[in-house]
Amino acid sequence: MAISARLRWAAALLLVPAVAAILSKHLSSRRGRQLPLPPVVVVPGYATNELDARLTELYRPSSPCCAARKGQGWFRLYLNYTALEDPAEVRCFAEQISAAYDAVSDDYRNAMGVETRVPFFGSTRGFRYPDPDRRNFSYMDRFVSRLEGIGYRDGETLFGAPYDFRYAVAPPGHPSSVGTAFFRRLKGLVERASRINGGRPVTIVAHSYGGTLAYQFLLRQPLPWRRRFVRRFVPVAAPWGGVVLGMLTLVAGNNLGLRFVDPLALKGAYRSLQSSLWPLPSPSVFGAAQPLVTTRSRTYTANDMPDFLEAIGMGAAVGPYESRVLPLFRELPSPRVPVACVVGVGVDTPEMLAYPGDGFDVAPRMVMGDGDGLVNLASLVAVDRAWRRHAALVKVRNVSHTGLHVDDRALAVVITAILLPN
Ligand SMILES: *[C@@H]1O[C@H](CO)[C@@H](O)[C@H](O)[C@H]1NC(C)=O
Ligand SMILES: *[C@@H]1O[C@H](CO)[C@@H](O)[C@H](O)[C@H]1NC(C)=O
Ligand SMILES: *[C@@H]1O[C@H](CO)[C@@H](O)[C@H](O)[C@H]1NC(C)=O
Repeated sequence: MAISARLRWAAALLLVPAVAAILSKHLSSRRGRQLPLPPVVVVPGYATNELDARLTELYRPSSPCCAARKGQGWFRLYLNYTALEDPAEVRCFAEQISAAYDAVSDDYRNAMGVETRVPFFGSTRGFRYPDPDRRNFSYMDRFVSRLEGIGYRDGETLFGAPYDFRYAVAPPGHPSSVGTAFFRRLKGLVERASRINGGRPVTIVAHSYGGTLAYQFLLRQPLPWRRRFVRRFVPVAAPWGGVVLGMLTLVAGNNLGLRFVDPLALKGAYRSLQSSLWPLPSPSVFGAAQPLVTTRSRTYTANDMPDFLEAIGMGAAVGPYESRVLPLFRELPSPRVPVACVVGVGVDTPEMLAYPGDGFDVAPRMVMGDGDGLVNLASLVAVDRAWRRHAALVKVRNVSHTGLHVDDRALAVVITAILLPN
């Protein structure tokens, strides 16, 4: 079955038996001849890779205990699972991982006195386990292991593009120094992956937020570059038009999947990040009629994000949202390379948040719809029509957002999407 064929979720299941045949072809090629593995660059999802920090003399901690690492060199800011088990350290983490929008330079920057870097760029090592000391907290390890199981080797045929997930990119005319630097590195990595592999073009596999970032990366490369270097783009569970839950995390904070961390403790930090505005539901996907959040006296649709931001006390984010985020999601042009989207569906996913009063300080009643548990179906499939000429969409039933890189059935689909010949 050609990848250019349009595949529905039922076909995804039919594909799975085909996986074995394809894999054995590649495995035999490892032993002998033919079919070299297509080089793969993996762009992980949000808050999936390690992030190092160091605290300089300019750092002004809110309490003395947060200064413990000042002047002590690089340490792992994300993720140190053990540190976050202590609520006092959660406060330090929150202030050190915060960013700020600077209206004068029209760009985001780190907290004063906090320098950051992304370790292991080029390798999958930095996101196999976000905390290498706590290996059970990972959803990428199994995927990377499967790739290795069929012959992929880190640094030879398999490459990783971790990034600072607090940042994003902005439309032309708006600086975005961290995101732009990531795109420059990603471009160099794709070219290197191709060069090491006899000049063959590269398959870019990107999960979730990494998928929307990689898409923006592709749009910004000249078409001849894309055609020369990109064999296929495989976005997995990418939220093309935002997610309804993105509004809840702005209201109530995001504990980054750490069950023992109170989301409220990270609310301020989460609100300060450039990337936190990307998941807001976009009008092009959710429309002007669908209520997404209701309070006793007000209904917010995707068109009302500025009012919503004001209402939850984030009025300062309206400017950056309107100038730096909204324009990127207004249209979703095809990247004009072969695409195989893999999405999970059939999992209860919040589609509307109903607040009983006029405030946002109590948990809302959630009205559920279809999706992958995090991303709504409408957002997952938003590019299906527009990219028809270049894209296949595979829906994997009953598999959640992170389950796509863990569940065996889903992994078979993702790996098939990587290996199938064009
Ligand atoms: C993680 O945090 C704990 C507790 O603060 C500390 O003892 C440990 O050295 C940290 N680990 C890393 C790798 O920074
Ligand atoms: C990882 O293991 C620790 C104990 O070793 C346990 O407390 C924790 O809940 C586990 N985390 C996950 C995500 O399974
Ligand atoms: C998905 O889950 C539903 C409800 O649990 C079940 O009825 C259905 O058979 C499942 N479908 C697949 C393809 O696993």
